[in-house]
Amino acid sequence: MNEFIKEHTGSFVNNMYQHLHEFDEIIHKVMKKDMYTYEHNNRLRGYTLQIGERLNLNKNTMEKLTFAALFHDIGKINVPDYILKKPGSLSEDEFNYIRMHPTDGKEMVGAIDINSIGDIIEQHHERIDGSGYPLGLKNGEILREAKIIAVADSYDAMTTDRPYRKAMSPNIAMKELERLVGSHYEKDVVEVFKSILVEQGILEE
Ligand SMILES: [Fe+2]
Repeated sequence: MNEFIKEHTGSFVNNMYQHLHEFDEIIHKVMKKDMYTYEHNNRLRGYTLQIGERLNLNKNTMEKLTFAALFHDIGKINVPDYILKKPGSLSEDEFNYIRMHPTDGKEMVGAIDINSIGDIIEQHHERIDGSGYPLGLKNGEILREAKIIAVADSYDAMTTDRPYRKAMSPNIAMKELERLVGSHYEKDVVEVFKSILVEQGILEE
């Protein structure tokens, strides 16, 4: 995956590569209780950077995306294992733990805040109609970087086996993203992501 990212993100990552590797190790250690999260982070970072490149985001924004993708779920350290791995649906109290992870994550990266990624982390479950959490922000209030992570995060969660359901096919997951364009996800981001997956032969047109 690291080679993949190096190949896909141009020169800036060459400078940051050493740091990425170090951060990868930290995250791996922290997240080892949940291997899914570790692998999910790596896939998410790949998707996020490809979308960012295609949207011609500048170097500074791409750097933010790289780190935010890596750290986006770090707040889940505070969520008990039995909730993260629960096969059934969550009770209101259990979901309240999940609702806290974006803000917990923002606070955790506060001490080492790289390029102000805390706000992106806090907003990665916000939805453009205001139905997301933890803040219930609406379209114009949500950072573009957080909207990109939201699309890549949802796609990856849908296309991976989870304790509570089997993985969906890429085509079905993309249909779901498209169905939620305008309510949950930003149109441009979903369109760009779809074109990337079609080019890679992962999706049929
Ligand atoms: Fe999350």
